[in-house]
Amino acid sequence: MAKLGLLERLRIEHPIFLAPLGGGPGTPELAAAVSEAGGFGSLGAAYMTAGQTREAIRKVRSLTRKPFLVNLFCGGRQTGTDFDEKPILALLAEVHLKLGLPAPVLPAMPPDPFPEQLEVVLEERPAAFSFTFGIPDGDSLRRLNAAGILVLGTATTVEEGRLLEQAGVDAIVAQGAEAGAHRGTFAGSFEESMVPVAELVRGMVRACSAPVIASGGIMTGREIAAALADGAVAVQIGTAFLCCPECGAAEAYKRAILATRRDTTVVTRAFSGRPARGLANTFIEQLTGREEIILPYPLQNALTRPMRTAAGQRGQAGYLSLWAGQGVARARSLPAAELMCALVAELREAQAHGTGAAR
Ligand SMILES: Cc1cc2nc3c(=O)[nH]c(=O)nc-3n(C[C@H](O)[C@H](O)[C@H](O)COP(=O)(O)O)c2cc1C
Repeated sequence: MAKLGLLERLRIEHPIFLAPLGGGPGTPELAAAVSEAGGFGSLGAAYMTAGQTREAIRKVRSLTRKPFLVNLFCGGRQTGTDFDEKPILALLAEVHLKLGLPAPVLPAMPPDPFPEQLEVVLEERPAAFSFTFGIPDGDSLRRLNAAGILVLGTATTVEEGRLLEQAGVDAIVAQGAEAGAHRGTFAGSFEESMVPVAELVRGMVRACSAPVIASGGIMTGREIAAALADGAVAVQIGTAFLCCPECGAAEAYKRAILATRRDTTVVTRAFSGRPARGLANTFIEQLTGREEIILPYPLQNALTRPMRTAAGQRGQAGYLSLWAGQGVARARSLPAAELMCALVAELREAQAHGTGAAR
């Protein structure tokens, strides 16, 4: 497929993809609003059961006839790793006490939901499917292809982009070091895969022939123009949409984002066991210097879930995962349709003035 064909093939007007925002922030309402506004809405279904995934896809379809994407986590599970749960349970016991929760218990390693979730995607056939943390096997990719679903993989290095291209994806999401939430890294160390988005996009465009979608720290139309000037065919934006009323993030999370005046994000394994970027807070501080007690992914994620749920209900941002990218201080609180209009107007202005290349 020619590079210019991606947006046409997806039938989208503007080169703006809503990032899949798994774990609550991403809602069918937000996905539909972005698609309705001429962007590409997405549903982060990684934490949903197969049944919830089907329900959410159908909800988006009840809200818009426009195309959208479904995203899942594929791999990255550290199932064979040895660990000692006692120190983290002791630390969490104090947090649970503060939040009025019963003492924490070690959950069972959650089974991998990917195979069942993928069957739902194949049956429901959204316009596109994206994945992160790894690469689905050849058979799954062939079935997605045969179902007419466009496939996008996530890469954090040029090398990962090449691996995705070899696997036969239709497009590559280039996730720069600035990006909010989990790192998609799957080949190589997390530390060595922190490439700034502009450098990553330029390198990937040179090395790969699949269309590249820039992701990480992009908050304004001017920054979209810069990514397009670097060779991306579109951008995938997460943090900029977190304060939209359609976004399902807890109110305390939205307040924390809007109160941020500079980049206070850090990359942490504290909440899930896998490196992810979010606003620094009490829980991250409590684990700083004690990272060795964190359980492997996704066990740590299951272990901290009761804390995060209670913190969300009680408005305690200190114990919530406040995922955000490095552009967080520039987040705007606008309905998704208005934010899309603003981004498109800024993009056009930047392109008209030839300012796209200056970030
Ligand atoms: C709250 C939140 C949840 C996210 N969940 C997912 C997800 O489920 N799957 C995924 O591929 N990417 C996920 N991402 C990462 C985005 O795809 C994207 O790389 C990132 O949002 C780009 O950086 P930005 O937030 O600075 O725009 C998430 C990002 C955020 C902020």
